[in-house]
Amino acid sequence: MGPLTRAVEQYLKGDTSRFHTPGHKGRCGSAPFDWGELWRWDVTECAGLDSLFEADGPIRETERAYSRLYGTDDSLISAGGSTLCIQAMLALALNPGDSLLAVRGVHRSAVNAMALLDLHPQWILPSLGEETVLAGSVFPEEVEAALASNPRLKAVYLTSPTYFGAVSDIAALSRICQSFGVPLLVDNAQGAHLTFLPQNLHPMALGADLCCDSLHKTLPVLTGGAMLHVGNKVYASRAREKMALFGSTSPSYPVMLSIDAALDYLEDGFGEDGAKVTQQVEYMASIAGEQGCLLPEFPLRDPWRLTLSASPLGLDGAGLAAHLRGHGIEPELVSEEFCVLMASPCNTERDFLRVEQALGSLPRGTARSPKTAALTLPRQKVSLREAVFAPSHLVSLEQAVGKIAGAMVSPCPPGIALVVPGEEIDEDTASLLKSYGIFSIHVLH
Ligand SMILES: Cc1ncc(COP(=O)(O)O)c(C=O)c1O
Repeated sequence: MGPLTRAVEQYLKGDTSRFHTPGHKGRCGSAPFDWGELWRWDVTECAGLDSLFEADGPIRETERAYSRLYGTDDSLISAGGSTLCIQAMLALALNPGDSLLAVRGVHRSAVNAMALLDLHPQWILPSLGEETVLAGSVFPEEVEAALASNPRLKAVYLTSPTYFGAVSDIAALSRICQSFGVPLLVDNAQGAHLTFLPQNLHPMALGADLCCDSLHKTLPVLTGGAMLHVGNKVYASRAREKMALFGSTSPSYPVMLSIDAALDYLEDGFGEDGAKVTQQVEYMASIAGEQGCLLPEFPLRDPWRLTLSASPLGLDGAGLAAHLRGHGIEPELVSEEFCVLMASPCNTERDFLRVEQALGSLPRGTARSPKTAALTLPRQKVSLREAVFAPSHLVSLEQAVGKIAGAMVSPCPPGIALVVPGEEIDEDTASLLKSYGIFSIHVLH
């Protein structure tokens, strides 16, 4: 049992009359189904139960256990997902007005945080795949060239793994960042499990200075549970202060307890079970390949994720998803062409069997040609912050040409922002947006 679970259990044993938040007092919340003990365990930061942003008790002990597990200088709990960790990570490494090199396969939480903090991203594209356009890994040589040509860049920010499972060469990127004296910040929201693989692909093991993990995405943790990992002592002393800058003062105890409770399994048995997941996903991929599906290749990839397209069999993403759903499977992502399946040790044999049966019985039709739009980066005309906080209105793409975007447009795929606030919408950008089925956009007045 983890330290936080022990502390709350102790509190519950005391049969205390709760004259503190939350208002349900551990007993009278209504739920649409049986939530069991959940109400009782939904406590708050009262005596003996620590306080997330001043942690020095059981929450701190849980964090230290995670820090040991991931081999970090420090690890801090977030009950507000990776979104909170990304805000803190950028605030820790950069000052308002700073420029950074950012890879365009970026989640909206990072773009929003950059706007809040008045940061100025210089964008580069990740690799885009050969047969289809999907956010792939980052080219280290492009990062090196960008840093060499702009000494004002104060950090490098990237997403790895991408939504489609491409993992970047963090060790190479870390060496480059070190040689330029800038920190490497990694959005590892999709990769908390990477540390449990036989070949440890976790950014903290490979030299990143800071990274976030959405524990809830790939580990047995409740939605919202995440971790900010610190891999460089320089950032350790102010990390909690930056988390507090953006986080709620009422972090969910069920979320934090689920992080604490996962420890035993993560420390013992999760890696072995994870190896079976890798095998199962490889097996699913081999069946999909034999059936003629398209499986994008990445030099390094997340082995628990299956990105597949049945276009060669004539099925679009919705058609593939309908077929999977017909076998009782719900994918993580359904796009025009692709479905993404995410597996974990909590999937059962039956789950995998269903995928095997679904992939083994795919209908066949006339092949569809994959989408191959060429991506270009629009020109930034106004700072992100200025554009995000300026009044904007929705117009058709035809009306938008020559205007400045007021909102981000980031379809997935490609999982790359086609437009971020402050960029000019020129004819090329407008036709790119159209090719992704986007016909209107917010522009500044
Ligand atoms: C790459 C990436 N970064 C950040 C986030 C935000 O994470 P969270 O939902 O844990 O706040 C997500 C969520 O999907 C993501 O995919």
